[in-house]
Amino acid sequence: YPIDRIRNFCIVAHVDHGKSTLADRMLQLTELVDPRKMRAQYLDKMDIERERGITIKAQAARLPYKPLGDVGDEYLLNLIDTPGHVDFSYEVSRALNACEGAVLLVDAAQGMEAQTIANLYLALEADLEIIPVMNKIDLPAARPEEIAREIAAIIGGEPEDVLRISAKTGEGVREVMDAIVDRVPAPTGDPEAPTRALIFDSFYDAYRGTLVYFRVVDGRLEPGHKIRLLATNFEGEIDDLAVNSPEETPIDALGVGEVGVLSAAIKNVAEAKVGDTITLAGKKCRDVAPLPGYREPLPMVFSGLYPIDSDDFPLLRDALDKLRLNDASFSYEPETSAALGFGFRCGFLGLLHLEIVIERIDREFDIPLVTTAPSVRYRVTLERLDPETGEPIVLEVSNPQDLPEPNQIAAIAEPTVRVMILTPSSYVGPVMQLCEGRRGNMEAMDYLTEERVELRYQLPLASIITDFFDQLKSITRGYASLDYEPSGYQESNLVRVDVLLNAEPVDAFSSIVHRDEAYPFGKAMVEKLKELIPRQMFDVPVQAAIGSKVIARETIKARRKDVLAKCYGGDVSRKRKLLEKQKEGKKKMKNVGSVEIPQEAFVSALRTG
Ligand code: GTP
Repeated sequence: YPIDRIRNFCIVAHVDHGKSTLADRMLQLTELVDPRKMRAQYLDKMDIERERGITIKAQAARLPYKPLGDVGDEYLLNLIDTPGHVDFSYEVSRALNACEGAVLLVDAAQGMEAQTIANLYLALEADLEIIPVMNKIDLPAARPEEIAREIAAIIGGEPEDVLRISAKTGEGVREVMDAIVDRVPAPTGDPEAPTRALIFDSFYDAYRGTLVYFRVVDGRLEPGHKIRLLATNFEGEIDDLAVNSPEETPIDALGVGEVGVLSAAIKNVAEAKVGDTITLAGKKCRDVAPLPGYREPLPMVFSGLYPIDSDDFPLLRDALDKLRLNDASFSYEPETSAALGFGFRCGFLGLLHLEIVIERIDREFDIPLVTTAPSVRYRVTLERLDPETGEPIVLEVSNPQDLPEPNQIAAIAEPTVRVMILTPSSYVGPVMQLCEGRRGNMEAMDYLTEERVELRYQLPLASIITDFFDQLKSITRGYASLDYEPSGYQESNLVRVDVLLNAEPVDAFSSIVHRDEAYPFGKAMVEKLKELIPRQMFDVPVQAAIGSKVIARETIKARRKDVLAKCYGGDVSRKRKLLEKQKEGKKKMKNVGSVEIPQEAFVSALRTG
């Protein structure tokens, strides 16, 4: 295609606002897809995505399109699909950078959500032409006038400029495509310059190795070309070069502005990371500058994953190895816990990412797990100086067990996030209360319209990784939405709360919390454990402590009767059955010191942190 007939665009939308439905409609208008094969949501491939209705991985589709009444050649529209969730905002930003325009798609009944606005800001940063579109105007609950005002207030412009469509019936979809042709600029780039292409997605295929989605910025790519990836220094030869239209179709070259997929015997996705630059191996491209914006994925949330059955440890290792082939953004390393045995400490981009990985381990590998309460990575400055530099030693601690004794610590800093919350104005009070209760500092409050308020807070990341989102939803009856981005580190008065059973610490229950929250946290933890741990042969004290200072205590009273007591005088076989049953039960117990803890107690106690 000539460069001036290419349009690269993406759709920025909140989950469920109709992105996939609109993409399907656009595909239909190009008549590329056999209607018999047309299934809902052509672009989403992963099962989990389909079931949960969330788009996790970005992909691309090539849509040849001829505006009605246009006498010239057809245009090539490349739709680049972006992941919708906050945990993947880096990937979103790379996908946006592969485009010149974005369709801002907003549900006419729901209005803008925090996530959409966050992604809109990313699109504006990437200098994209924004085409505002309101979807679902067929719904009886649609409030088109009000929502159009809201959209116009946020992006500037007039409410009348907002296109009104129904992706469901197809109404207005052609107008969206025409607007893309008219308003989104054609790509710019130098066909003669050394080749540079931006990787905006990559994923692993068991048969072909890693498939790399890219957009050519300068030069061209052909099958057989020897390529080099600048961040990882991978070198290899392009085996397949293809476009998705929407099925994968081989192609013999891709030039400036074009979008495609290649394979080059790349063993795992960590070798072809999102944001990296593809160039050619060899002299001509030796000094080529990488495309701007590349970043190593940075895990933010950590959790220990332990197989419930310790025999599953090698299986869990295999599962993590396999998942890692596919996901360069989570990390794992072996760790041991006195209470839980052998497991792995894993790092994730955020909570949803954690949930997805755990769900995949369950679904694809069927390994029952205990996961420890999610924690963040602290920066701990020690009193001790580094003998070489004379500077204080700084440790990164993501497992509460690894926190040094209080008397060795000079300071602890924790990661913070900038949170954006959109809420109906009637809930502003409770939302502010929630944020302030979680050690938040307000940065801004803006009324987008009379009914909708945007609040910005600085919060410790640790405050939002447990039940913050659930709380927010519940106090606003589901009407508020949330987005966040990392905003550095701040010093904080943090302590480790340990839990002791029969005077022995149980490492898996230790947590790092703010000193002001330590007492309620410890109290809740011992009360919960008292409920969860069955009576033993003796009284078991359950204590929460900071260092050697006990801050909360409960006692699990000794069991009074032996199970056999009630069979007194009964027949022998019943007794035997009972004993067998007891033995069965024992297998599911973990011995921690002298106390037997059922597996479920770990699972339940750690569930809400
Ligand atoms: P994710 O893939 O989860 O990000 O969601 P999405 O934004 O792709 O939304 P999707 O296309 O899956 O649509 C969500 C729901 O809204 C589906 O049940 C669609 O059938 C429905 N929907 C989409 N567009 C319209 C529309 O114009 N009118 C009506 N009434 N429903 C629509």
